Amino acid sequence: MKIYVFQEIDSTNTEARNREKYSAGDVIVAINQTAGRGQRGNKWSTREGENLTFSVVVEPEFLPAAHQFLLSETTALSVSETLGHFGIETRIKWTNDVYVGENKICGILIENDLRSAIVERSILGIGINVNQVHFDEWIPNPTSVALELGRKVDKNEVLERFCEVFERRYDELKNTAESLAEGIQHDYNERLFHRDISCRYFIPGRGEVMGIIRGVMPTGDLAVEINGITETFRFKEIEFILGR
Ligand code: BTN
Repeated sequence: MKIYVFQEIDSTNTEARNREKYSAGDVIVAINQTAGRGQRGNKWSTREGENLTFSVVVEPEFLPAAHQFLLSETTALSVSETLGHFGIETRIKWTNDVYVGENKICGILIENDLRSAIVERSILGIGINVNQVHFDEWIPNPTSVALELGRKVDKNEVLERFCEVFERRYDELKNTAESLAEGIQHDYNERLFHRDISCRYFIPGRGEVMGIIRGVMPTGDLAVEINGITETFRFKEIEFILGR
């Protein structure tokens, strides 16, 4: 993987979209990201130099568009495993946030370019809270590597470890995509946030329910048991209600 480091840039995901400059395997890193983008049009804000904000370019032409969620799984799992190497146990909150207990340590924004029925190019944008210990009030429930370990770590070591883990997992995805990347699916589900625990969820149009997450399918749909019946939900069809 080839790493490009920018002292200041609006968003590494936006930069990575430049097809003339970047191709598969390139990693774009910002020391200071001034207009970081999050999921659902949210912004992603981090303090200059304290955290990891980077994007990985991949060209997974082997991946049918219907199974593009496997890329999310591969990315979130790689972050979770990377943090594990630093002694931090995490869970993956569907679709692809990484949590320590009830607090978020990493956000992921994946932007896919589809060509007919395949994923031609994808930007995997990753924000890991590494050394930040004070967060703005509006950020709901943040944590960081430093807050979890009680000491600062070298951000570059975290990035290097991520690249190693990701390369291995991405090869696995490539080699097993035809059989729906069973190993990745399994390991993602093993780390799934709130799996097999009864919790409250909000379902638009139905209101609040008690449900038990049973797993995520290769399509990305979430299987939740409600009143003894397992139903599947697509992105935005069900929301977590986290105690704050
Ligand atoms: C979220 O949790 O809402 C996703 C946050 C993703 C943030 C990362 S930081 C690096 C990359 N560049 C961006 O503009 N966003 C992603």
